[in-house]
Parts: sequence; structure tokens; C-alpha cells
Amino acid sequence: MAQFKELIFSGMQPTGNLHLGNYLGAMIRWIELQKTKDCIYCVVDLHAITVAQEPALLKKAIREVTAAYIAAGLDPKKSIIFNQSQVSGHAELAWVVNCVARLGWLNRMTQFKEKAGKDRENASVGLYAYPDLMAADILLYRATHVPVGEDQKQHLELTRDVAQKFNNDFAASIAENGFGDAFFPLPEPLIQGPATRVMSLRDGSKKMSKSDPSDYSRINLTDDADTIAQKVRKAKTDPEPLPSEVEGLKTRPEAENLVAIYAALTDATAENVLRDHGGSQFSGFKTALVDVAVAKLAPIADEMRRLMADPAHIDAVLADGSARARVLAQPTIDAVKDIVGFVRS
Ligand code: TRP
Repeated sequence: MAQFKELIFSGMQPTGNLHLGNYLGAMIRWIELQKTKDCIYCVVDLHAITVAQEPALLKKAIREVTAAYIAAGLDPKKSIIFNQSQVSGHAELAWVVNCVARLGWLNRMTQFKEKAGKDRENASVGLYAYPDLMAADILLYRATHVPVGEDQKQHLELTRDVAQKFNNDFAASIAENGFGDAFFPLPEPLIQGPATRVMSLRDGSKKMSKSDPSDYSRINLTDDADTIAQKVRKAKTDPEPLPSEVEGLKTRPEAENLVAIYAALTDATAENVLRDHGGSQFSGFKTALVDVAVAKLAPIADEMRRLMADPAHIDAVLADGSARARVLAQPTIDAVKDIVGFVRS
């Protein structure tokens, strides 16, 4: 198959309360990738409106996620940071993807079933077609690698299926237009492992979530040092001291989660953490965890607040990113139009 230039694409929805799970599960990896690869990081506002959003809050959330990207360490000079709605190619290509993907493929998507719940008839068509838009996001830049959480794996498989079917269905036209034997790469998921799956501080069997009604279940990226400390102190635990071996965490989801968080925040393994803290009571371990959490997260929260105080600067970052993204997207849109058989004017 044709060779494609290595390019990373990922995105996050601008829907309130970014938390420790977003940071440890996604952003840290994005920052790492940015050091050696070309990366595009998108604020996926078109995805956000698949469920109802309050316009003023959506605007705020778009700026807040952008601020979080920058505060966490993404460099808008190096990587492209922008919001999806400002590059029309996303919506344009999504239409073509809609016409390539099959109903049967979308009917299998578990995230739609979860999000639509019982009242499926009343879900938006956009929520149903969401995976096609996600495929378009990735294919628009002919991205080769996509860092995502486990929950997005099925959407990545759909993206690959769409790319493959487009390449097959239009093989002759792709060759005639000078693109060789494949126009779209089949993007590889870079799946974040279970070590970076951050669970609720109130229930170690549930993912940390922005929609959990209890704010004590999560550490928000905007929480100040006192709030972080309070939430760690109140985190659910069990009565036993920490084990010395990872084995001993197996049936103790809350202990496992706190150790995993500590490990991720200090760039260590759970083994390392238990070597230092095995045998400790939770009170002592939580004190150490507060220290590392505050050291790592409070500066991000401070920087977010500073950035949010100057929305014009954030908007300028997005405008610059969108302009650069458009330059990359346009040749794909033009080529897809040629390949599909549209007359271009
Ligand atoms: N669906 C992703 C999520 O909810 C967000 C997303 C949209 C995305 N488009 C993308 C992620 C493209 C990676 C690549 O997490």
C-alpha cells in the first residue's frame, strides 16, 4: 500500500469539567507525542452539539478546553490546536463518509446505544452519525495515528473500515487521479492502557466522569490546591494498609486507583509506588498523594485561570490553528471531490 506521512490526530469534546482522567488518560500522552511527531489536537465542537448545548456555555467550554490543552503543556506553535467547526472540511468530508459507511456498521456502535439510552427515537441524527464525523476528522488530514481511550476503539475500527471501503470503491478513480493504490491511510489507534484509566474517587469500579453528580468523585483541572487536598482526603478507601505487591491490589479497586494515580502523576509504575509505600496506612499515603497531585495539577489550574482571563488570546490561538488546519485539509477535500466525480469550479 502507498506510504503516508506520519501524523497524529486526536480530539476532545468541549463539554464542561475536564478532570484528572482527561489529563492522565489523554493529555499526558499527547504532550509526549508532540515532542517527536507532527500532531493536530482538535476541540471537537461539532461533536458537542450531538446533544443539546447552551450556546454561551459551549463557547466557554471551547475556550476552557483550549486553555487546558495549553496549560497542560501542548504548544500551539508546534502542534496545531483548533476547534473543529472552523474548518469546514470536517463537515464536508463527513457527508462523503456518511455515504460510504453502512447502516449496519453504525448500528453496532456501543457508544450510541449507551448515550441514546432507552429513548433512542428521540436521539439526534447527529448522535447516531457521530462516528462518521469522527472518521472524517481523522481522514481529513490523512492522519496515521490516533491516541484515544479504550472507549473509542470501536470508532477507530469504523474509521479504518470507511478508509478501506473508500479506497476499494474508488480504486480506479484514485489511481486515475494520481494517488496510486490507496488514498486514505488506515489509521492506527494508540490505545491508552488500563494504567491510565482513572476511576472515580468515590467508587473504584466506575470511570472518573464529568457527568458524575458528585464533585468529590473527580479532580477537576480547575480545582485549586485546597480542593485537590480535600478530595484526595475524602477519597474512598478500605481499612487495610497498602500491599507491598501489585497482586495485592487486585480485589481492592479504590486502593488500586489511588496507587495508579500516584504512579501516573510521578511517571512511575505501580510496583515502584508500592516499593515506597507498601505497608503504609491510607492516611499517610494520601498525604503523599496530595503533595504530588498539588505539585502537578495546581500549576495547570493556575495557568488555566490566567489564560481564561484573556479570551482574546485563546481565540487568537484557535484562529491561528484553524488557518493552519485549513491549509492541510483543503487538498484532501479537493482530491476527494475529484475522486468521487464532482465537477470542481
Ligand atoms: N469521540 C472522541 C471522544 O469522545 C472525540 C473525538 C472526536 C476524537 N473526533 C476525534 C478523538 C478524532 C480522536 C480522533 O473521546
